[in-house]
Amino acid sequence: MPPLPEILAQLNADMRATDDWGDVAAYIPQLASVDPAQFGIAITTADGEVFTAGDADTPFSVQSITKVFTLAIALGRSGDQLWKRVGREPSGRAFNSIVQLEAEQGRPRNPFINAGAIVTTDEVLTGREPRETLAEILQFVRAAASDDDIHINETVAASETAHGHRNFALAHFLASCGNLNNPPEKTLGTYFHHCAIDMSARQLAMAGRFLIETDKLPRMILPPRIRRLNALMLTCGHYDGSGDFAYRVGLPAKSGVGGGILAIVPGRASIAVWSPGLNRYGNSKKGTQAMARLAREMGWSIF
Ligand code: DON
Repeated sequence: MPPLPEILAQLNADMRATDDWGDVAAYIPQLASVDPAQFGIAITTADGEVFTAGDADTPFSVQSITKVFTLAIALGRSGDQLWKRVGREPSGRAFNSIVQLEAEQGRPRNPFINAGAIVTTDEVLTGREPRETLAEILQFVRAAASDDDIHINETVAASETAHGHRNFALAHFLASCGNLNNPPEKTLGTYFHHCAIDMSARQLAMAGRFLIETDKLPRMILPPRIRRLNALMLTCGHYDGSGDFAYRVGLPAKSGVGGGILAIVPGRASIAVWSPGLNRYGNSKKGTQAMARLAREMGWSIF
């Protein structure tokens, strides 16, 4: 097997060799204006090595990937009580589906679809102000990444707030079912802001280290919880594309509509890839291709 830097350099060159970048997310105007023809990848290992290729230092909107951090905080706060409000099953539906929430009386299928992440955000927000909650989420992300230069992009947050009609519909439906502790606008304001955190692939791979179960790294959460977060990433992290991602890549991972994917090789590494063009599930097109190839070439799989 060639060394990792060589594999990444080749992967970067091959990803740029074709023009099928996919389409950027259109429903958040700030994301719609991003050039899809970009690609970056970063790997951090449990031994503390970092490898990168391509646009690995370009900040991008991590969006739904922040749902993993918010879930970790919500579980730390509420433990298993959280599961009264949200399920742990794959949804088999688009990340912003409305119909499933009604059919299931306002208890979202899992914490990674939008309705579920609105509930975990609401849980973390309960008893606090949005500013404190966002500070706590940012502090967790920065500590995980060992990097204080990670911030919320206010322009992206404002852009999503102005166009987030579907999330408003989901939040109001949750409220109508008694599954929201705070006013919908307050919970959504917090949700839109944590989704609007900017990170580079390098920063995201660093932040993902808390999900590698190993004695070699400082521990932020206990091993049983690490395993459970990874299980949810595998089964629900790519929405209705989760089965296909598990089939092609075989690693727990979480995607975001900004084109990022964070994947974990248990015990070994954290991988972040970014390419803004999306596939039909709303997950990074080239990012998924790159993860599949990297996993195959490295022999990385949980199976
Ligand atoms: O709520 C939304 O629609 C966005 N803030 C996040 C969605 C997302 O990242 C879906 N992931 N592929």
